[in-house]
Amino acid sequence: MSTREQWGTRAGFIMAAVGSAIGLGNIWRFPATAYENGGGAFFIPYLFALLTAGIPLLILEFTVGHKYRGSSPLNFSRMNKKAEWVGWWGVVIAFIISTYYSVIVAWAISYTVFSFNLAWGEDTEAFLYGDYLQLADGAGQIGGLVPSVLIPLALVWIVALGVLFRGVQKGIEMANRVFIPTLVVMFLIIVLRAVTLPGALEGLQAFFEPDFKAITSGEVWVAAYGQIFFSLSIAFAIMITYSSYLPKESDITNNAFITGFSNSSFELLAGIGVFAALGFMASQSGLEVKEVVEGGVGLAFVVFPQIINEFPALNGLFGVLFFVSLVLAGLSSLISISETYVKGFSEKLGISRQTSVLIGGGLAALISLLYATRGGLYFLDAADYFINQFGVALVGLVEVVAIAWFMRKLDTLKNHANLTSDIKIGGFWKFCLGIITPLVLGYMMFDLFKQNLLREFDTDTGNYEGYSDIFINYSGWAVALFALVVGILLSVIRWKNKEKLDKEAM
Ligand code: ALA
Repeated sequence: MSTREQWGTRAGFIMAAVGSAIGLGNIWRFPATAYENGGGAFFIPYLFALLTAGIPLLILEFTVGHKYRGSSPLNFSRMNKKAEWVGWWGVVIAFIISTYYSVIVAWAISYTVFSFNLAWGEDTEAFLYGDYLQLADGAGQIGGLVPSVLIPLALVWIVALGVLFRGVQKGIEMANRVFIPTLVVMFLIIVLRAVTLPGALEGLQAFFEPDFKAITSGEVWVAAYGQIFFSLSIAFAIMITYSSYLPKESDITNNAFITGFSNSSFELLAGIGVFAALGFMASQSGLEVKEVVEGGVGLAFVVFPQIINEFPALNGLFGVLFFVSLVLAGLSSLISISETYVKGFSEKLGISRQTSVLIGGGLAALISLLYATRGGLYFLDAADYFINQFGVALVGLVEVVAIAWFMRKLDTLKNHANLTSDIKIGGFWKFCLGIITPLVLGYMMFDLFKQNLLREFDTDTGNYEGYSDIFINYSGWAVALFALVVGILLSVIRWKNKEKLDKEAM
């Protein structure tokens, strides 16, 4: 009998996996990404990436976790000792993501409070960058810590690490059972209200209008893959870790389909809600929808406050609903992101979950302070740019190639998944992972590498003043390389208590 921690119920696992998948990526990133990359036509590369890479990889990761029953690095080393670094690479990427992801959740907490009296005033942009973030003058400067960010950030870490401290069933499963249904209900209320606002239809038209020319560009495909990987939480150790807590008799493939389609449905819902609201705002201010669209930071913390200002009634309430949704979606994902290194360190160093939470989580919290400084937004943007654009997809490519081509494990994993699953996988799954995904992703990465590193830089473009292209590009690649080196170094350390781990997993 396995003595390893386990999920209490199937629903508990699904809730946790869906909770990990639905996050900031769905609400603040997807709508603008889809709009900027061909609108309605974006669904072609998006669905292609979902069906040939996203869901097949999710099935692959669920199977690896279920079969090898360990953290991601342990599982890779169980497949082949030489592959352990691939597991650590994903874990280090997850560690980096957790350091800035937590900060965005912290902003959302502040904005929940600001919603009560619409504290952001009329000029929401000046409020965000000036009053709230106290942004430094140029990229690369640190400046002092910003107390208004520091306090909610401490709260985010206390909650996330507190949940992890309590373990799989009592912590992660219980938190998601509360967070996810609450999030879905709140978000449905927002979307229903948004689509009934005046101007909503124009917003939706702008969102769904297809620009078929756009999808002939490679960048649009990179955006689709990046979106799918980040949004599904694949290729950064999360789903492998979560599925390692599945009881032996669990279904794998059906759970992967449920998770994948729930995530994409939520993403679509977010797109509809956000664009209906943007349409409303455009009609209120006599502008075209394209003039009010923004993504990421600008969308959630500049444009949404403006929309909330314009609401016909109950402005504060809708502000609270929107920002609490961001907090819940973000927290449930942050918990899963941090669990990757909590479990990885705990197994590698032979320390308890609780000690690992304190060491690993403590370190991540400490590093996250960098983004709570006056120059924090520049660092956040640089890290996020790299991770979203290609960081996660790059690890995904290496993972697929290692498993399919080098270790040749696809047949073993296919048979394993089919033993306990409702939906059987076969040749198409293998074709997607062994051929389509490596070729498409491989070509994309090569192209991106060429574009990013071998071109002339325009030194004074960027989102903020004084922000250089060089800073963002090189720091992105530096982050990737750094994660790889740390991953390789971690894989050299010996596993403490390997026998005990093997016994536990039996
Ligand atoms: N999957 C998570 C998100 O979309 C990380 O934000």
